[in-house]
Amino acid sequence: MNTFTPEAASADIGVYGLGVMGANLARNLARNGYRTAVFNRTLARTERLMAAHGGGTEGVFVPSESLDDFVASLVRPRVAIIMVQAGVATDEAMKQLAEHMEAGDIIVDCGNSLFSDTVRRERWARERGLHFVGAGVSGGEEGALWGPSIMPGGTRESYDRLGPMFEKISAHYQGEPCCTHVGADGAGHFVKMVHNGIEYADMQVIAEAYNLLREGLGLAPAAIADIFAQWNQGELNSYLMEITVEVLRQVDADTGVPLVDLIVDQASQKGTGKWTVQTALDLAVPVTGIGEATFARGASCSLPQRAAARGLEGSASAIEVADEDVAAFVEDVRQALFASKVVAYSQGFDEITAGADAFGWQIDKGALAKIWRAGCIIRAGFLDDIASAYEADPDLPLLLAAGPFAQRFQECVPSLRRIVALSAMAGVPAPVFSSSLSYFDQIRAQRLPAALIQGQRDFFGSHTYARIDKPGVFHTLWATEGRAEEQWS
Ligand code: 6PG
Repeated sequence: MNTFTPEAASADIGVYGLGVMGANLARNLARNGYRTAVFNRTLARTERLMAAHGGGTEGVFVPSESLDDFVASLVRPRVAIIMVQAGVATDEAMKQLAEHMEAGDIIVDCGNSLFSDTVRRERWARERGLHFVGAGVSGGEEGALWGPSIMPGGTRESYDRLGPMFEKISAHYQGEPCCTHVGADGAGHFVKMVHNGIEYADMQVIAEAYNLLREGLGLAPAAIADIFAQWNQGELNSYLMEITVEVLRQVDADTGVPLVDLIVDQASQKGTGKWTVQTALDLAVPVTGIGEATFARGASCSLPQRAAARGLEGSASAIEVADEDVAAFVEDVRQALFASKVVAYSQGFDEITAGADAFGWQIDKGALAKIWRAGCIIRAGFLDDIASAYEADPDLPLLLAAGPFAQRFQECVPSLRRIVALSAMAGVPAPVFSSSLSYFDQIRAQRLPAALIQGQRDFFGSHTYARIDKPGVFHTLWATEGRAEEQWS
């Protein structure tokens, strides 16, 4: 006997996969007035959702026990969201749904899928007359329930059907929904991937600032929390800063020790940061901040290497800050943090530009920055400025050199330099701070030693080089005495 009575074509939208994210997204949809079909492979999860939230006060759910019933319960053209583990489980869910669906129906993947998988799945669905929408969803479990930032890709046609629902359930920033049609096929998952890469960098720079304040001033976590809480009132205002304050204030009930001191110092990842860096390498975009942040997690987990290196002489001299210089030191760290953060966002947006060019997407970066202003993990006050910068010039070549940022960034550079120098001398690792400064010094340089690299490449591999004083492609017979360069074209 069925637990749930099948209902034909009555639900506006369905959610397949009722883990915490799926269940919360379904509850958000139902609360916003959409009749929401729900299905999970293990019936117990559906029953649990219905028992806890199916009473009617939180909106209308249409539960199903079988996939047949689930698809049949959706109004046409059907919209079914998959919220399962990214990877094989997503492929399986998509294929099962496709078997039951018909031309014009829409399958939406709200998981953290790799964008190239989304491109492949979209093509597969299109060949069957279906729409496949890869939608990046950010905001964690709370966001899914109360309003995430949503980044859907796929066809314009599918957005016409899906967009109004997603816009309604998304977070809102000053009344504007944090959801926009990002671009065709994998564009939504691509920008979500870069969002997560930026998230890694943002988390790492906050952690580097914490470490410098701790090592440099010997401050306790709670005192650093107070400093961060103050910073959070200004240009560094962000969700990540806000939660860091909470994490640093947490005291372990059993021991009375700050909890952060009891947490094992190995940062793991599920892979979106790694994908951002891998893709950046493919696209030849230097996302050094995101790269260093991702490698920093790797370094923290390199246990045999850490064990082997522990105790090696670092020739470091402890940071010594006189009482009267404490405020200036704290301010330097704050500015170094802001500058490194700007670099990370600037590089992330460069990757989006390069991805859009390579994969043929029209991505409105101003609109993207706008939907990151609320709901998502990297939500931050200064995304409003990023949005304005891209709105003023959609083809902006470099965010950190753009109107509102250029001056502010340059003002921060002396602090960044002092902090990077100090951390190097003191042996306090600050990989994103340091790489952000190096990146800035590289891109602002009149001339780079890349000229020498070209010479070396031509020497050992006849890879040729270009000259600054005449056009053409050149090769020099380097080791042959008395022989001049040859022009190859
Ligand atoms: C979000 C988060 C979310 C998640 C990531 C990162 O935007 O809501 O980015 O997608 O927390 O999976 O997790 P890792 O740090 O484990 O890679």
